[in-house]
Amino acid sequence: MILLDGAKVANERNLRLKEQIEKDIITYKRAPCLAIILVGENPASMSYVKGKGKACKLVGITHELYRLDESISEEELSTLIIRLNQEDHVDGILLQLPIPKHLNETMLIDLISKDKDADGFHVINQGYLYQKKPTVYPATPKGIMTLLKAYDINISGMDAVIIGRSNIVGFPIARLLMDAGATITVCHRQTKDLAAHTKRADLIIASAGRAELVTKDMVKSGAVVVDVGVNRVDGKLVGDVHFEGVRQVAAYLSPVPRGVGPMTINGLLENTYELYLKHVK
Ligand code: GUN
Repeated sequence: MILLDGAKVANERNLRLKEQIEKDIITYKRAPCLAIILVGENPASMSYVKGKGKACKLVGITHELYRLDESISEEELSTLIIRLNQEDHVDGILLQLPIPKHLNETMLIDLISKDKDADGFHVINQGYLYQKKPTVYPATPKGIMTLLKAYDINISGMDAVIIGRSNIVGFPIARLLMDAGATITVCHRQTKDLAAHTKRADLIIASAGRAELVTKDMVKSGAVVVDVGVNRVDGKLVGDVHFEGVRQVAAYLSPVPRGVGPMTINGLLENTYELYLKHVK
């Protein structure tokens, strides 16, 4: 089994990005800037946001963190987003999800300028993605595609099974894999027989958010398995794939941690950088 070492690939790409940003700061007289909005105190979100801020620092992207109270009104949050849209030094805006239920998530995401949409979640950017036009891609699907490419995995003609249909991972990765020539099956909670699908898959993207859902008996020998899961079980981080079992049958497998996580952060940094270039040029 070959380990899909996301930490290694992401580190290499981040280093290259850092060097590029150092040059661009001289040319354009300022660093890229990402505004990160965190509402409430969800521990997982706090940890993700901390990681994103640290990664920005590492490559020379300035970041501004807006920590807002759980009880913030939709109007107040809208006012902040509108102000950040207008701020000339801000290149990217990220609203960390999930947000409290009293806030209209779709409306607020679409309020972010499509030209500052670091996550690629804006309805127009999603539309571009589904029309196969160049745009900002959501960071996790972008990171997965980059990881597969880094290991020269030829997706064309593969039977790909995606577990999970979220707007953040499952749905956009289905589109990107289809564009790369794979035949796609998207499984979800209502899927009758998950194992019947995964057993014949050349490529499995496990993004259901259920600890160790994918076991050895569900994976074909020689398959490529990408684990997007981040589940905390007894204080330990585990993926959606039972690593020790699946490693015995898969040809390629991404670990948790140090797999898709660092690639997602790299995707976000590269998105912010691309938005910056469009902004300053
Ligand atoms: N919550 C879980 N994943 C993500 C992500 O990629 N972006 C944002 N903004 N929130 C998330």
